[in-house]
Amino acid sequence: IAEKVTDKFKRPMISLRISITNRCNVKCFYCHHDGIVPQDYEMTSNEIKRIVQVAKSIGIDKIRLSGGEPLIREDIIDIVAKISSVGFRDISLTTNGILLGKYAENLYNAGLTRVNVSFDTLNPDTYKFITKRDYMENAMEGIKKAVEAGLNPVKVNMVVMKGINDNEIWDMFNFCKNNGAILQLIELLKTENGQESEFFEEYHFDMGELEDELHKISNHVKIRKFMQDRKKYFVDGGEIEIVRPMDNTEFCKNCTRLRITPDGKIKPCLLRNDNLVDLIEPMRSGLSNKKLKQAFLEAIQNREPYFTDSC
Ligand code: GTP
Ligand code: 5AD
Repeated sequence: IAEKVTDKFKRPMISLRISITNRCNVKCFYCHHDGIVPQDYEMTSNEIKRIVQVAKSIGIDKIRLSGGEPLIREDIIDIVAKISSVGFRDISLTTNGILLGKYAENLYNAGLTRVNVSFDTLNPDTYKFITKRDYMENAMEGIKKAVEAGLNPVKVNMVVMKGINDNEIWDMFNFCKNNGAILQLIELLKTENGQESEFFEEYHFDMGELEDELHKISNHVKIRKFMQDRKKYFVDGGEIEIVRPMDNTEFCKNCTRLRITPDGKIKPCLLRNDNLVDLIEPMRSGLSNKKLKQAFLEAIQNREPYFTDSC
């Protein structure tokens, strides 16, 4: 097992989050697009495989595929199978769930461990308002099929927004509990690509009070091992996890992620675009895995906390 590499702030690099496409089949108005500036080129499954081999050699043992919408890629099963053949502790995917009913079983058989489904509401009008599309039933079906297929855990990502879906937290909790999923409540993140501060002020829902309540009513509270900003609350036979990505004392301090853009650049932070390191050109010009590893190490040295109070 490769030794884990740490950055200048002693944060170990554990997880690689690969955005495999910018394309998406919904248009969520709050989307941060995984911090990626659109490019036409999408890495091939073989390029992705080579990148994860190098990542493994620096101790990364968790892979997450994201987008856009990763299930839009027609070769998604092949991508997962190739990553799985390299061997990782955890291979997961963040999806809107619309195509998950179709793919869940094959994803599981290809070696996917688990899945997070972005799904914010059980109200069809609210779903349409958020996504500009009418696929709520498909996404619900996707969540159920993912659980049935054995993906574990299945997390439902709910971005809680004031005046939009903040009244649905407990309905969403029951939906998740009844279907064998975990509810992951996410605070809105302010990003620089297009979101105005008025937008953020209008919709941002502070989860502080809810956390206080959860502390009181939970049978058990657990702090995640490598993501110590993350608390898991076990309530009434169900589970809630809270993500507060704007918490500037905890979030960046506990960040163990590196990212890859769809066109094959290492991106050291979701919220920055000024320190990317290209891998595709070096791979095409025949660079050895040893040299590619150096590109990874260079990107890791570029890592700075985005919220500067953190480290
Ligand atoms: P697991 O909990 O291990 O399943 O992974 P995850 O929570 O990282 O994955 P997911 O794709 O479900 O992301 C959950 C939330 O964390 C999303 O709202 C993201 O916007 C937020 N997030 C993920 N990565 C970063 C990051 O690097 N910086 C910040 N500030 N927020 C992030
Ligand atoms: N704030 C918080 N979470 C967001 N996501 C997308 N945009 C934002 C934002 N502005 C969530 C999606 C998805 C995860 C990758 O990030 O719902 O589940």
